[in-house]
Amino acid sequence: MRIDIITVSPELIQSPFDHSIIKRARDKGFVEVHFHNLRDYALNNYGKIDDYQFGGGAGMVLMIEPIDAIISKLKAEREYDEIIYMTPDAPTLTQQTANTLSLKKNIMILTGHYKGVDQRVRDAYVTKEISIGDYVLSGGELAAAVLSDSIIRLIPGVLGDETSALTDSFQDGLLSPPVYTRPSEFNGMKVPEVLLSGNFPKIDEWRSEKAYEITKRVRPDLLDEE
Ligand code: ADE
Repeated sequence: MRIDIITVSPELIQSPFDHSIIKRARDKGFVEVHFHNLRDYALNNYGKIDDYQFGGGAGMVLMIEPIDAIISKLKAEREYDEIIYMTPDAPTLTQQTANTLSLKKNIMILTGHYKGVDQRVRDAYVTKEISIGDYVLSGGELAAAVLSDSIIRLIPGVLGDETSALTDSFQDGLLSPPVYTRPSEFNGMKVPEVLLSGNFPKIDEWRSEKAYEITKRVRPDLLDEE
C-alpha cells in the first residue's frame, strides 16, 4: 500500500509513523508513506495557501489552487483508490472503514487547517470524508495519523499474529474483554480462575460473556446497531 498525506505541517504528523508497528510495517515494505507540504505548492514566494472566506466570517480557508497542483501531480503519477479529506463534518471513522481501506493500493489523505478547505476541493477531488470523532482538532494532521495507524496495522502480514487484529475491540461489533498477565495474584487481587483453568472452550465462553457485558455497560449504542 502507498499512502500520500498532504499537509501544511509535515513535522506535526511524521513521528507516529516512526515508531512501533507502523515503523516496522514501513521497514518491511508493507506500506510506503509520503508526506507532501502544501506550502511547496503555494501561489507565491510568501507561501500563500489560504485566504479569507467569501461572505465574511472568522478563519482562513485553504485555497483550491495549491491543492489542485499537488493532487493533480499525484494523480498523474498513479491511480488512487480513495482521496480522503479529514474533517469533523463527516461520517465517523469505524473499524469497518479501516478494514475496507486496509485492502486498497493507493490512498491520498488531505488534511485541513484553519476553517478547512474551499468546498470546491471537496466537490471536485475528494472521494471520501472522514471524522475521527465529535470534537474539533486544530488541524487534520493528528486525525490523518489516527486513520493511517488504524489502516496500516490491518494490512495483511503487518501484525505477526494474524489473530490479534481479529480479536481487537469492534472487529465483532463488541468491545474487548479484560486481559491479565502474571502474577496471578497481586495485593489480594486475583486473576479470574477460569483463565488459569486451561479449559479453552470455557475461557472462550467467559471472554464472550465479558465482551458483551462491557459493551452493554459502556457502549450500549453498539448493541443497538445490530
Ligand atoms: N479536523 C479537525 N477536527 C477533526 C476531526 N474530529 N476529525 C477529522 N479531522 C478533523
